[in-house]
Amino acid sequence: MQQRRTIPFFNYPALFAAQEPELMAVLRDVCGRGAYILQRDCREFEENVAKFTGAKHVLGVANGTDAIWLGLRAVGIGPGDEVIVPSHTYIASVASIHFVGATPVLADCGPDHMLDPQSVHKLVTKRTRAIMPVQLNGRTCDMDALQAIADEHDLMIVEDAAQGLGSKFKGRMAGTFGKFGTISLYPAKLLGCFGDGGLVMTNDDEVARRVGLLRDHGRNEEGKVVAWGFNSRLDNLQAAILNFKMKSFPQALERRRAIAARYQARLGSLAEMTLPPAPDADPRHYDVYQNYEVEADRRDELRAYLEEQGVRTIIQWGGTPVHQFAELGFKDVNLPATDRLFKRCFLLPMHTALSDEDVDYICDAIRAFYGK
Ligand SMILES: Cc1ncc(COP(=O)(O)O)c(C=O)c1O
Repeated sequence: MQQRRTIPFFNYPALFAAQEPELMAVLRDVCGRGAYILQRDCREFEENVAKFTGAKHVLGVANGTDAIWLGLRAVGIGPGDEVIVPSHTYIASVASIHFVGATPVLADCGPDHMLDPQSVHKLVTKRTRAIMPVQLNGRTCDMDALQAIADEHDLMIVEDAAQGLGSKFKGRMAGTFGKFGTISLYPAKLLGCFGDGGLVMTNDDEVARRVGLLRDHGRNEEGKVVAWGFNSRLDNLQAAILNFKMKSFPQALERRRAIAARYQARLGSLAEMTLPPAPDADPRHYDVYQNYEVEADRRDELRAYLEEQGVRTIIQWGGTPVHQFAELGFKDVNLPATDRLFKRCFLLPMHTALSDEDVDYICDAIRAFYGK
């Protein structure tokens, strides 16, 4: 066993320290120009993401949660409508549906932890208007299977790609499949700013126009109020930081894939664990590993052991999938795969400040726990 290390689950200070002079130069530039709200940097960032993803329109908003409910409002989902969404997601996906007055219908997950198309199929009713695939952990759902269900029943696809920027299914980027897709720019996300931020992406001119109005008090380009709106703008200072980070984003995604390959090489033979699909396991998927969500026998003991060894891990959503929040009133929801998964799953550290030696240390500790 190597010398003891302390490996945080996510290393916020290290990411700043790695590029401090460049980041301070960005802050000085923006503040020197006094350019804070809906300025050049925000427009440039939106254009950069549009180029990167192939989306026709990209709109910066205040956070990934606003992005979802602004998108839902813009496509006209509301009271009387049902939206099918996985239970294995952040409460934000489901709350956004609730807050436009529609009914979230919770679906089960498949072996790769993503929304299971078979479960979705069973939940379609006359009131279903949309399916919300959540592009979880930096992986994209089986979009062919979900699109086939949407086509069969004339439903919209509305993507929560908060965790998916840069992931692809059959060469197409997460966030660009449906009527709209959303991204979170929360600091620990694939592309994170220094606070809150989010994006709505769409190929539909009218949806883009509506989100543009909704995010800025219903004002059009001339500043005239032409609709009801809110304030949900991406700060220009955050946009400038994101523009800077965009330059090295492809390399950051490749580093995450290399870390995933290293975990796979060292842990893939353990019968006690199930790992996420390896980076090149399926040519349809290009996964970017927002998270490295594993399943493990004796999960809680293993996590306690790793903690003793200095390795911080977490269980997503505090360990509770949405249908298990009793206070939210979900009744008769039977999701056996999600229930099973949440007895076994947790997240190993996965971020660009991890060194190969950190990954090896984590793997050695896991192998030692299982006596290997
Ligand atoms: C799957 C998912 N949906 C939505 C969100 C909400 O994003 P934000 O925290 O930027 O509001 C997050 C991120 O926290 C998320 O992981």
